[in-house]
Amino acid sequence: FPVKWAHSTSTMAAANEENIGSLKEQIAKVFEISLKVTIPEEPEVVPLIAACAKKEFGDYQCNNAMSLWAKIKGKGTDFKGPQPVGQAIMRNLPASDMIESCSIAGPGFVNVKLSKQWIAKCIQKMLKDGIDTWAPKLPVKRAIVDFSSPNIAKEMHVGHLRSTIIGDTLARMLEYSKVDVLRRNHVGDWGTQFGMLIEFLFEKFPSGEVFYKASKQRFDSDPEFKERAQKAVVSLQGGEEKFRKAWAQICEISRKGYEKVYQRLGVHLEEKGESFYNPYIPGTLDLLREKGLIEESEGAQVIFIEGKKIPLIVVKRDGGFNYASTDLAALWYRLNEEKAEWIIYVTDVGQREHFEMFFTAAKRAGWLPNDENKYPKTSHVGFGLVLGDDGKRFRTRSTEVVKLVDLLDEAKTRCKAALVERGKAAEWTAEELEHTAEAVGYGAVKYADLKNNRLTNYTFNFDQMLNDKGNTAVYLLYAHARICSIIRKSGKDIEELKKAGQLILEKDEERNLDYICSSLLRLWKRRAQICYPMCCVNIFMIYPRSLPVFTLNARLLGRLRKQADYCCVRQLLSL
Ligand code: ARG
Repeated sequence: FPVKWAHSTSTMAAANEENIGSLKEQIAKVFEISLKVTIPEEPEVVPLIAACAKKEFGDYQCNNAMSLWAKIKGKGTDFKGPQPVGQAIMRNLPASDMIESCSIAGPGFVNVKLSKQWIAKCIQKMLKDGIDTWAPKLPVKRAIVDFSSPNIAKEMHVGHLRSTIIGDTLARMLEYSKVDVLRRNHVGDWGTQFGMLIEFLFEKFPSGEVFYKASKQRFDSDPEFKERAQKAVVSLQGGEEKFRKAWAQICEISRKGYEKVYQRLGVHLEEKGESFYNPYIPGTLDLLREKGLIEESEGAQVIFIEGKKIPLIVVKRDGGFNYASTDLAALWYRLNEEKAEWIIYVTDVGQREHFEMFFTAAKRAGWLPNDENKYPKTSHVGFGLVLGDDGKRFRTRSTEVVKLVDLLDEAKTRCKAALVERGKAAEWTAEELEHTAEAVGYGAVKYADLKNNRLTNYTFNFDQMLNDKGNTAVYLLYAHARICSIIRKSGKDIEELKKAGQLILEKDEERNLDYICSSLLRLWKRRAQICYPMCCVNIFMIYPRSLPVFTLNARLLGRLRKQADYCCVRQLLSL
């Protein structure tokens, strides 16, 4: 039974127009005031705000009543249950031009409907000042995003594609918030595979060609070769000239391959591979030793971590360093030399344990604060596996990992074929056709990755990601093109209309723009897509009251809203 809300007399400390924050944050601010007045004995309570599950309820809801009731029950309160608590929260809301109406549902959920005028005002402001004013201010000046990071001499696989796409998105989001971002490619250029490759290179390919597969076969089948390979790593890491040269050769070949993929995806990265940190490892370990963190265990040097059965090995039994020692040295370097305040690592969820363990070691060493909300801070952003149609790890028929280059090739080829089928080969120049096929094809691959839940596995499917009617980049691009054409045909000047400021939201379809607002808020984080909702807003400027266009757009906007909602940006943000 909905209970209507009337403005209370308390007013909100002048709504801060400058720092807009997300819609949710703004609503949280209003509720924070009410919660403090309603239950003064719980001043620390954090507003629980969520988007309403059903549109009929409103736009957002405050879910604090139940848990508050649980806290105050039996402590001499006048409230008789969670519902009266919800009603009081609603009554005590300060007057705010954001809110049109409120109602109570179930055991005290407070539903909020945003005011049309307020939405119109916000969009108008956004049109005038640009989307930049919506970027949140982050408490860090410099961040490092450690992403992509394939292993040299091995093929770059779809897992690295996910890391590349998610990492690039995170970097863009941070850059957009004016954080100085170091985009680090922490390539595996120092691991055990090198001993094997180098020995094989000496043996089989004096001219310098490398085949990881052949080396691996040899490594697995010949114990004598395996031993030589293990010694070769030590020689390499010890800096022996002959080994260094062979290593550099191998790295160069791989690097060229990676660069092509990055170029096609439009992703920029700076390589500082594992080998870079090698000289810093002994010093880093000394620092940890001084703190009494390193112990001897079965001939290896390790750090025991509370709650973990197996310790973090930092010096192997043969005296060599490993993935963990490198990561500790890299962390030291990033904090002290590069002065990064937030370091984000993007790898598959399988590596979570590794990150948890060396983050804990760094906290014990006093490099990082124990409080997760304080900076400098490290975060592991994990992601699920990419699966094939058979529900198993995505592989080609020959059961090998799928090569990224082949994947991108196929996306482009399929898009090109679809464009040719639509008669575009006759309409466009060969160059335009090529360019469009690339934009749509690679865009589709990126979008398909980002729209999925980051942490769960997802199925790679070309037909789905290239469907022009589905929740895909292809659909968005078509929608965008259509909107541009409507604007073009209107013959009106958008800039003039913006200045005139006549955005009016009257009909329900128009009111759908609130979703545009929240979509925009989410989408600023992914600059690439800002243009879509922005164009819709532009249309409303041109035809403030023409229903046919509205209905057309209501449908379009509905789709856009869904697309925005399902983007994993939201998950990414809850780092
Ligand atoms: N090379 C690693 C892999 O392919 C990822 C490296 C991630 N970064 C790091 N600092 N450990 O699994």
